[in-house]
Amino acid sequence: MSSAVRFGSYGGSDALEVVEVDDRPPGAGEVRVAVVSAGVNRCDIEGADDSSGDERPKGKGSDFAGLVAAVGEGVTSVRVGDEVIGFSDCRNGQAEFATVHESRLIGKPDGLDWHTAGALYVAGTTAQACVDAVAPRDGETVVVAGAAGGVGVLATQLAIREGARVIATARECHHDYLRGLGALPVTYGDGLRERVLEVAGEEPVVAFIDTHGNGNVDLAVDLGVAPERINTVADFDAATRVGAQTCGQDSVDPGSVLSRLAGLLTCRQLELPIRSSYPLARVKDAYKSVAAGHGLGKVVIDVRSIG
Ligand SMILES: NC(=O)c1ccc[n+]([C@@H]2O[C@H](COP(=O)([O-])OP(=O)(O)OC[C@H]3O[C@@H](n4cnc5c(N)ncnc54)[C@H](OP(=O)(O)O)[C@@H]3O)[C@@H](O)[C@H]2O)c1
Repeated sequence: MSSAVRFGSYGGSDALEVVEVDDRPPGAGEVRVAVVSAGVNRCDIEGADDSSGDERPKGKGSDFAGLVAAVGEGVTSVRVGDEVIGFSDCRNGQAEFATVHESRLIGKPDGLDWHTAGALYVAGTTAQACVDAVAPRDGETVVVAGAAGGVGVLATQLAIREGARVIATARECHHDYLRGLGALPVTYGDGLRERVLEVAGEEPVVAFIDTHGNGNVDLAVDLGVAPERINTVADFDAATRVGAQTCGQDSVDPGSVLSRLAGLLTCRQLELPIRSSYPLARVKDAYKSVAAGHGLGKVVIDVRSIG
């Protein structure tokens, strides 16, 4: 038996429980990972009904990192004891042990801390998908809305790496941090259009990445951005209405994207701020922190300590 987050009914973080579950050995091609750190994402909160099948209680968590505890028949890419970053398609990462197909693991680079490794999958693949979708070119002005969030903070840096001039919307308390990344921060809310135009100056805004919704897609259109260079992961109705893109985590090859991002993070060419961490027993508090909707970077669950 081992501990895992489960929910038996829909009802936000209060429906979550840490329960003892039966352990099963990994099947052919599968790997059992002793989870060290697991990320919490908005989709864990928003999409309660996202595991396969209707059977409950269901598990939670897509992102995790840990140590290979056992391998199933035919597994060749990892060995017991390897440090790995994983992603769970059926959302069972917030647990002492996560069992996934070997193709859902990459090696964790030495030097990458466990929190960052455990929080990387969803935010990293989504941020890369956003940037790929709007394809910023050298010198172009791009807006990233929700730039302090898990997806936004990575999308901001990845767009800057492409040579873009990034106007980053966030609460004022995050402006110094975003400026330090090389972005041009502006406060969201009433008057955002005017603030963006003022910062853009003579340069047109030619691409827009929206990670928050709430009118950002319409703002992008109003700023003159072509619909094919607007990408939202938060407002699908608006995207349909204006013909914008909705590329997200499923739009990229996760293994290759994660390997590249993990490498950049390890050599400090990219950063993923971790705003708070909670032990597994306090999973409800971790979810409440994410649900609060403001904050820099990621919230993680410390599942076990090693070393
Ligand atoms: N389709 C996909 O594949 C996919 C994958 C991952 C996430 N998502 C979606 O992407 C969105 C962002 O996810 P996340 O993990 O980055 O969330 P997050 O870490 O909770 O970040 C949300 C950010 O939104 C900012 N924000 C709050 N109100 C805002 C406003 N009115 N205008 C602009 N920004 C505002 C907050 O920044 P301040 O602190 O500055 O207020 C916060 O940092 C969510 O809707 C999530 O469901 C989609």
